[in-house]
Amino acid sequence: MSDTSKTSAASAMWGGRFEGGPAAIMQRINASIDFDKRLYAQDIRGSKAHCRMLVRQSILTPEDGEAIIAGLDKVLAEIEAGDFPFSMALEDIHMNVESRLAELIGEAAGRLHTARSRNDQVATDFRLWVRDAIDGMDRALKGLTEVLLRRADEHAATVMPGFTHLQAAQPVTFGHHLMAYVEMVGRDRSRLADARERLNECPLGSAALAGTSFPIDRHATAAELGFERPMRNSLDGVSDRDFALEFMSACAICAVHLSRLAEELVIWTSAQFRFVRLSDAFTTGSSIMPQKRNPDAAELVRAKTGRVIGDLNALLIVMKGLPLAYSKDMQDDKEPVFEAADTMELAIAAMTGMVGDMTVNAEVLKVAAGAGFTTATDIADWCVRALRMPFRRAHHVAGSLVKLAEDKGIGLEDLSLAEMQAVEPGITEAARAVLGVDSSVASRVSFGGTAPERVREAVAAARAALSREEA
Ligand code: ARG
Repeated sequence: MSDTSKTSAASAMWGGRFEGGPAAIMQRINASIDFDKRLYAQDIRGSKAHCRMLVRQSILTPEDGEAIIAGLDKVLAEIEAGDFPFSMALEDIHMNVESRLAELIGEAAGRLHTARSRNDQVATDFRLWVRDAIDGMDRALKGLTEVLLRRADEHAATVMPGFTHLQAAQPVTFGHHLMAYVEMVGRDRSRLADARERLNECPLGSAALAGTSFPIDRHATAAELGFERPMRNSLDGVSDRDFALEFMSACAICAVHLSRLAEELVIWTSAQFRFVRLSDAFTTGSSIMPQKRNPDAAELVRAKTGRVIGDLNALLIVMKGLPLAYSKDMQDDKEPVFEAADTMELAIAAMTGMVGDMTVNAEVLKVAAGAGFTTATDIADWCVRALRMPFRRAHHVAGSLVKLAEDKGIGLEDLSLAEMQAVEPGITEAARAVLGVDSSVASRVSFGGTAPERVREAVAAARAALSREEA
């Protein structure tokens, strides 16, 4: 541990608040065990694969190999039982595990690190960890998709205002709106799958940076650890972290999607909108205003997006100036990745919960769907179809009808036929039928459109795709 009596000239100037001398400061900045202990399972798994390979290649004796494997299993059990004495003096997870192994099995422990360096070891551990994180996040997003599909199906025909510029634009269905998020989450999952594919190559055996003179079998360790193949270049193997950057990019984009839905929930649950009511499980009260139901979970999903974007930026900036191969800077790759993964887990779970049990206020949505002359496009389209009017002129006619209704303080559907004919003599009673919000959405049958039948088809197609995944 630190030598408190050591005080250098430099630390006499800036070390006043430290109990120890430079050695203590060095230890604190250098140690990563506080966070990289999360890699223990991957570290032990990688060491076992390495050890078995060394035995098969006659680099280690079978007796040493057995002692090492048994010792590593013991270390794993101790860590899992929570009684492993992690030590800061031993810097990181790799040296903590190895040192305990030496206590347990003696000298043979020192042979495990043959033909390996902490550089390829940590790169391997971290890839294994990120691969697990990708799989976990994918499962969570699949769960969110299932909930979105259930709610979309339920509300395939529930009309609501569709917005552009947050101004009422045209009626859409609530199901169609949720299906937009199903599409986004589907792409988030496919980004994770792409990242996983590129990640899934094994750096183990790159050693410190140049490979090794021992007759190792990198294909064997790669296969045992579930990688597609060993990485082709040892310098690249120990020095790139693009797999972590890709994972966090996918996280950041997904977080932005969740944040947009969270923002909509915040707006929709407000007293001014009342489109949706979140369950008690996902709201909080105010300590002073008894009427309040605050959408805290949605606000926090929105806020946490900032962290995830920050995590991606942090590692991009760490990496941007590093010469090949390993630099200690790269030890700082882990905390942003852990934070991004933990944050996404929480945000996806909260969103899944909120969407799953929110109450959709169909009556309010329907009234809102018609407010703001949202069927003006429908009357313009009618003029094009029935009167063969060029769309630009039809747009003008519809605009005049909106102005008339606005001046009278009524909705488009409340204008009399005579009033409409004063604007455009060709308008007949049939035109009035297109002014209802239900007929408006029902008419939008184009592929990808909001008509309830299209929404139901989209739900069915997405469900079929999910069940194909299981097959
Ligand atoms: N704890 C280190 C890290 O996470 C392990 C690699 C150390 N390598 C070295 N050359 N000091 O990056």
